[in-house]
Amino acid sequence: MSQPNDQWKTKIGFILAAAGSAIGLGAVWKLPYVTGMSGGGAFFLIFLLFTLILGTSLLLAEFAIGRKTQKPPIQAYKELAPNSAWHWIGILGIISSCLILSFYAVVGGWIITYFFRSLSGSLTDPAAGDYEVLFGSVISNHWEVGIAHFVFIIITILVVQGGIQKGIERVSGIMMPALFIIFVVLVIRSLTLDGAMEGVAFFLQPDFSKVGGDTILFALGQAFFSLSLGVSIMVTYSSYLNKQENLVRSASSIVGLSILIALLSGLAIFPGVFAFDLEPNEGPSLIFTVLPAVFSEMAFGSVFLSLFLLLLLFATLTSAFSLLEIVVSTVAKNHPQRRKAAAWIGGLGIFLLGIPSNLSYGLLSDWLVFGNIFFDNVDYLVSNILLPLGALLIAIFVPLKIKREDLKEELLRGSQLNHGFFNVWFITIRYITPIAIIFAFLDVLGVW
Ligand code: PHE
Repeated sequence: MSQPNDQWKTKIGFILAAAGSAIGLGAVWKLPYVTGMSGGGAFFLIFLLFTLILGTSLLLAEFAIGRKTQKPPIQAYKELAPNSAWHWIGILGIISSCLILSFYAVVGGWIITYFFRSLSGSLTDPAAGDYEVLFGSVISNHWEVGIAHFVFIIITILVVQGGIQKGIERVSGIMMPALFIIFVVLVIRSLTLDGAMEGVAFFLQPDFSKVGGDTILFALGQAFFSLSLGVSIMVTYSSYLNKQENLVRSASSIVGLSILIALLSGLAIFPGVFAFDLEPNEGPSLIFTVLPAVFSEMAFGSVFLSLFLLLLLFATLTSAFSLLEIVVSTVAKNHPQRRKAAAWIGGLGIFLLGIPSNLSYGLLSDWLVFGNIFFDNVDYLVSNILLPLGALLIAIFVPLKIKREDLKEELLRGSQLNHGFFNVWFITIRYITPIAIIFAFLDVLGVW
């Protein structure tokens, strides 16, 4: 059994921490640029459908595994399917988490750098006008982004070594509502820019002629990425949850919050893209060129930009905590004395793994594999291959290895929901989810 002080203090603490893991760069940085590169509204609509249907069902599946076993991933799979290879889902999740955190921390570093530059007012200074050039010059400044990357990892390590409850729960509780408020301010400013409506149309009006090759897989990967699914992180978090909480209600709040933030970020970014004649398909630099431009049009723009970056940094950190926590909990869940060493060794190892990603915008920018820089390759590998693969395995595992009655008991406990709901979920996880994922893989291989 886990120690009582190793559990979430309050129900809202668990929701905030799980939502804190979900909400981060996925919704704010990645979604806008992937939507921009994939033609806009149609992509966003497919992403929404995947989030609502596949995302929710998988989230519940991961919750059921974690809470039923109360164990970190590898042990959880071992308990449910002894003497089999299923625990490789947990190993795969840990590998994927390390890879995600490796480039996630690089972007976290960019945010730190931008935060300090915006404090000095230099980002929204109209003389700095060309925001694309500015971004290029910031991230090719190796020492600056290198140190910022390192600082990001150190903060992550320091919080995770403090343990699940003290570290994660406290930070998440303050940051989320604040982020929401400043987002609303930003959206209002974006929507009132000249030419804003073109951006809204790009974001929300589906044009299916733009859906091609990779779109479906990208949307699927994005849906899993932004809910932190497929890597067993939600298994880890729910393993710290007490038996009374209602999993369905928690899952719906998390999906709801994460869709809300996704909508807000699209409405904040795309009007800006069109109002300032920027390119929506610019890639990972998108928000770093659009945000300073939009804020520069606001009274006290650099104050608001600094505040926004600070809150985005918190959102990014709470996701990073979850990525390191899965590694740490694997060795330290029932051995608290190992936690500190695990956090440092894991965190510093991931920092080293991230260095080539960091350098791929400078020194290593000519090192292309499959025509892409290192950073983009790691992102593609994780988001479009490893996460959907992990999700597929979990969707196959849960109905196969946990008794239907046990699942029902785990999911319906403490809830008013009836068996109809459970049956819909069961069919979705057993048939619809795996078929959709396999379809997306085959589609990208050009099978039809
Ligand atoms: N969900 C996080 C985000 O959107 C990223 C993440 C992915 C975190 C997978 C954990 C696991 O920023």
